[in-house]
Amino acid sequence: MTNQKTLGLLITLEGGEGGGKTTQIVRLRDKLTALGKDVIALREPGGTTVSEQIREVVLSAKNAGMAYTTEVLLFQAARAQIYREIVLPSLAAGKVVLMDRSRDSSVVYQGIVRGFGRELIDQLNDISTKNTLPALTILLDVPVPTGLARVAEAGNNNRMEMQGTEFHEKVRQAYLDLAKADTTGRWKIIDASQSLEAVEAAIWQATQNIFP
Ligand code: TYD
Repeated sequence: MTNQKTLGLLITLEGGEGGGKTTQIVRLRDKLTALGKDVIALREPGGTTVSEQIREVVLSAKNAGMAYTTEVLLFQAARAQIYREIVLPSLAAGKVVLMDRSRDSSVVYQGIVRGFGRELIDQLNDISTKNTLPALTILLDVPVPTGLARVAEAGNNNRMEMQGTEFHEKVRQAYLDLAKADTTGRWKIIDASQSLEAVEAAIWQATQNIFP
């Protein structure tokens, strides 16, 4: 995969709802910036003008009738745009790119849970990312009831979060299976039911191994 050819470093945060990815990515960005690293933090779907518009369509609770195939392609369309516009140029410029979700979200949600299959989603991911794999993928794993309670507290209710508990249990299991089956060593599983500070420390430790 192309990461070896790039100068920068791509780190992704993955996991089901309520694992704290959004909070943790800000903390990680700030700590790396304080060390003098050139860092950007992005989210998927979103992160560019085009991708944020796609985000609105794919996540809107108004679009309950969206076909799964449409969903698959919209997530990939948003990804193709952010990689071409921001991620790949940033990596080429030697930056550290932190992403709140990326290709593995599609493998889990669309490939495994929606049932499109890992192979198809990997092919689409390779097209949309131009064959880019993260150097490190941190799975923030949290029991579903804990995660959903956090989301409910935050008052978010997008189309995916409105799915039932069974859906979210499948998401959690799919992530754990994916991470455990990995042979590249890029996955790190962190227990995100711990305090924010404990999770932050575990993430920091995981990143230390990949900086030269
Ligand atoms: P978001 O509000 O960003 O939620 P979270 O805080 O959990 O990341 O919503 C993103 C939703 O989109 C989330 O439910 C996961 C889903 N998703 C996919 O199904 N496939 C994808 O490829 C991506 C990037 C996200």
